[in-house]
Amino acid sequence: MTRRIVIAGNWKMNKTVPEAVELAKAVVAQAAEAPASVDLVVCPTFVCLTEVAKVVAGTRVALGAQDLHWEESGAFTGKISASMLVSAGVKYVIIGHSEQRQFFGETDETVNKKTKQALKHGLLPIVCIGELLSEREAGQTDAVNERQLKGAYAGISAEDAAKTVIAYEPVWAIGTGKVATVEQAQDAQAFIRKVLVELYGSEVAEIIPIQYGGSMKPDNAKGLLAQKDIDGGLIGGAALKAGDFLGIAAGAA
Ligand code: 13P
Repeated sequence: MTRRIVIAGNWKMNKTVPEAVELAKAVVAQAAEAPASVDLVVCPTFVCLTEVAKVVAGTRVALGAQDLHWEESGAFTGKISASMLVSAGVKYVIIGHSEQRQFFGETDETVNKKTKQALKHGLLPIVCIGELLSEREAGQTDAVNERQLKGAYAGISAEDAAKTVIAYEPVWAIGTGKVATVEQAQDAQAFIRKVLVELYGSEVAEIIPIQYGGSMKPDNAKGLLAQKDIDGGLIGGAALKAGDFLGIAAGAA
């Protein structure tokens, strides 16, 4: 089995419902420009999911959400469950984004619970990991990624792990315009794959796509995507313009 290339747009807290519909329509209209080997995903806010679902239905663009809660239902004000996402037409779900970790109390443990819950409901998790600048400067990049990865996948079978996508997002490269060099990204991602081999064996480790995320743009995507262990991108700012998003996907050719 060959590894898929997954290019996902994380729209973060951007776009009203009409704006999200407009952007989704533009992505769908230009989706043919992406190489056939690329899986395209758009991840709007929760409130836009049902409307964007109608736009992408029956196209090659899949729908993703930006988070979920690990419980089935109940008194969890403000939270969204896996079955709600499934009912809205969602296929992928971003879990453990660094903004959730930094600002909203996400831990390796909650990432693990959310990943298990997503898999239980047939959602495909995009599990985000990555080091802070201070951790990179202290020489802890690999150790941080190993800890976050092992935390996220604790108790998850190889069969389930094979359904996931990993996003390596060095926190210092997110929204800063400071993209990791191809060597920095490839080195970190090769190490992540090595940890996956340790956890699940090489067959499963070889089929899990590892995305790069952090200031990815059409002009730097090609070099990153040419690396052996970079199997797509999780795109923030550049995903808010259909042309830039598809320009990044074109870099996977
Ligand atoms: P930017 O592409 O804006 O740096 O954001 C990356 C990211 O956090 C995607 O999840």
